[in-house]
Amino acid sequence: MEKNVVNIEFEARPENQSFARSVAAAYISVADPTVEELTEVKTAVSEAVSNAIIHGYQRKGEGRIAMELKFTDRDRVYIRVTDWGCGISDVEKARQPMYSTGEDMEMSGMGFTVMESFSDKVLVESEPGVGTSVTLIKCLDTYYDL
Ligand SMILES: Nc1ncnc2c1ncn2[C@@H]1O[C@H](COP(=O)(O)OP(=O)(O)OP(=O)(O)O)[C@@H](O)[C@H]1O
Ligand SMILES: [Mg+2]
Repeated sequence: MEKNVVNIEFEARPENQSFARSVAAAYISVADPTVEELTEVKTAVSEAVSNAIIHGYQRKGEGRIAMELKFTDRDRVYIRVTDWGCGISDVEKARQPMYSTGEDMEMSGMGFTVMESFSDKVLVESEPGVGTSVTLIKCLDTYYDL
């Protein structure tokens, strides 16, 4: 089952991190989520988009990011963030807590860990030189009356 499929594409600019957060919040609001669920989904999406901007496209502000949102059940939302940037050579390593290739000290290497703790499932598909796709699956306590 796939319901209410939405696809958007935007430029890999830092200001679009908060845009993507807001889109995700607005999208799931039809299911009447709790404040906690809203915060969790927004934060997970934010981490995925910031990774695309900072790592995928190395902060160049160029390149595109696609976001697909859909309900795969009345209480299950699927959000996929795709970039066509540098890709990840070792996904398993990248997903480990505190692993970061970021140069500045502000990068804690906790983005994937945050995505995992705030989602029910995180799928990462990546190929160096091709790009990265991160899928966040979240089961809500609430329902979208399909
Ligand atoms: N979209 C992406 N494209 C290329 N590399 C990525 C992408 N997303 C993550 N990575 C790689 O995975 C590493 C771990 O990502 P993670 O979000 O966990 O930590 P971080 O971004 O380095 O730090 P933080 O998110 O805590 O600021 C990154 O340092 C980077 O090397
Ligand atoms: Mg990160």
